[in-house]
Amino acid sequence: MPTFDFDTVPERRGTDSQKWQKYAGRDILPLWVADMDFRSPPAVIEALHRRVDQGIFGYARPVKSTVEAIVAAMEARYGWRIEPSWLVWLPGLVCGLNVAIEAFSQPGDEIISFTPVYPPFITAPRYRGRTSRTVPLRLQPGSPGRWEMDWDALERAVTPRTKVVILCHPHNPIARIWEPGEVARLREFCAAHSLILCSDEIHCDLILDPSRRHIPTATVGSAGRVVTMMAPSKTYNLPGLGTSLAIFSDATLRVQFERAAAGIVAEVTPLGYAACEAAYTEGEPWRLAQLATQRGNRDFHQEIIAREMPGIRVDAPIEATYLAWLNVEALGLREPAAHFEAHGVGLSDGAMFGAAPGAAVRLNFGCPRATLAEALRRMKAGLPAKG
Ligand SMILES: Cc1ncc(COP(=O)(O)O)c(C=O)c1O
Repeated sequence: MPTFDFDTVPERRGTDSQKWQKYAGRDILPLWVADMDFRSPPAVIEALHRRVDQGIFGYARPVKSTVEAIVAAMEARYGWRIEPSWLVWLPGLVCGLNVAIEAFSQPGDEIISFTPVYPPFITAPRYRGRTSRTVPLRLQPGSPGRWEMDWDALERAVTPRTKVVILCHPHNPIARIWEPGEVARLREFCAAHSLILCSDEIHCDLILDPSRRHIPTATVGSAGRVVTMMAPSKTYNLPGLGTSLAIFSDATLRVQFERAAAGIVAEVTPLGYAACEAAYTEGEPWRLAQLATQRGNRDFHQEIIAREMPGIRVDAPIEATYLAWLNVEALGLREPAAHFEAHGVGLSDGAMFGAAPGAAVRLNFGCPRATLAEALRRMKAGLPAKG
């Protein structure tokens, strides 16, 4: 396997990085937003150089090879045979979630998601004048524990105004890969209630266990109507290039979606297409090496937390993503993220994900080991005395 550098700490202070700008001028290590402190795959950087060297940046459309890269990746990775006509390009998946809600529901309708969850799943319905109905996931206790769907609560949450269910697969922030049986059951549930299932699979190429595979929601059974959201952005660290996809096997849904997007949603940029194609066609060795690094980072921080940080618990295995959901309830802090910020580490507060205040923080371990080690050292030093 070629070697890649996941150890050098890049200097992102003083750059356009949102992650680092948040704490500009303060000695706080940012482990919040889901972007990684790793350079993108060399093949992607080279493709971008080639595209920049052409020097013309007119309005772009994907060329045939870019579309073929997506079609081939879906088949090679997940055995999912898609048609080029199923693809709708988007400048971001948060944008895609908002458009889906606009397309498939009316103001006042209700949208379901499973908490804790990536905050835009909760806010997008509200931004669109819909009601966000959250169904808490249930933590099955044990060693390790397991997050599960609460099917009874889901049944109770549905009303005649419910139109869309948004699934995060794998699920940010609890890092679970949904089993085919669970996905099939959700599809059947949505079909029975005439709900559109919007499956956000942005983290699907970040499965940490090499023996497991991502199984797209759209390929599990045939019940109901499914929209799939995918992007190279999390996997190859390209979120700033705004290149994402909605995939529709159902042409009626696709047309509805495109109508809702028309005139509002910006086009993907030439650099975004170039990076996307290179990522899917040439990024595999880098992706595999990155996953090995993430596994190492996961095991490293889990061990330190278990051994040296009383009051912090990881309730269930981190199966995918580079995001850890830390249970900090026992620390008794009202605002745990603010507390750790005051001790030099910028985490995401669990309350934003729909968790109870004080219950959890999310830690982004997609960074060089030295950054992670220093952040853990600071967190340990900042533990409240009673913890
Ligand atoms: C589940 C999920 N969906 C969407 C996004 C963001 O997508 P985008 O940057 O394409 O809007 C994220 C970012 O962390 C995410 O975790």
